[in-house]
Amino acid sequence: MAKIARVSHLQEFKNSGRKFSCLTSYDQNTAAIFDEAGINVLLVGDSAAENALGHESVLAITVDEIIPLARAVAGAAKSALVVVDMPFGSYETSADDALANALKIMKQTGAAAVKLEGGKRSSKQIAKLVESGIPVMGHIGFTPQSVHALGGFKIQGRGDAADEVLAEALAVQEAGAFAVVLELVPADLAERITKQLQIPTIGIGAGSETDGQILVWTDFAGLSGGKPRRFVREYMSLRDDLLNAAKNYAADVESGSFPNADESFSD
Ligand code: KIV
Repeated sequence: MAKIARVSHLQEFKNSGRKFSCLTSYDQNTAAIFDEAGINVLLVGDSAAENALGHESVLAITVDEIIPLARAVAGAAKSALVVVDMPFGSYETSADDALANALKIMKQTGAAAVKLEGGKRSSKQIAKLVESGIPVMGHIGFTPQSVHALGGFKIQGRGDAADEVLAEALAVQEAGAFAVVLELVPADLAERITKQLQIPTIGIGAGSETDGQILVWTDFAGLSGGKPRRFVREYMSLRDDLLNAAKNYAADVESGSFPNADESFSD
């Protein structure tokens, strides 16, 4: 069995120029499969709101809702680093509130780290958690929990706004985060940030030059349905496969061909 990943391993990846892979996971089965496949980081993202819990947006998920999902993922992962998103409303109010919620997540899930959004505005929270012994992953660029403030799903840091995104990344590093997600930023800016930062960067819609890449698992597996966003590569068509399997099962039940004699018990 491969050894359990630590946050320090991501730094070793960056220092040695080796890229690493991350996927979201919200349940024990995908966690075990992705872990076996060698995915380095499993993020129990607040995207679970839209992909597992039936909420309309990531803003709705709560600490109490994400904890059982994170416990399932952390329990199934043998090697991957498990990181849990801090839900909207669980850390913005104060560094003390952030610590109380992060402690609850760490105690009740067995995860190795938490992730929270924002650069300068979240510096105090990041610093408080880190000084209390909780590793923190930052998240800047497009931050889904601020979708309304940002005016929608938009690329961040184009043109003159680039320096501000770099400043946000530096603020996250300065506060003590062990890595930072760069979401929806131009590839050349992500490359600049990656070169300037000592800590690893993890891209989603940020080009190929970040230290790691992350995708939402339902997107990468083609489960989400609809046209994938430009930055998503679908590695399979899980939605179509499941749909066909379910249709075949329903037809077999209706025709009486399932179960057959081999699938039944005798006296
Ligand atoms: O919740 C999530 O899936 C995320 C990724 C987009 C990084 O935060």
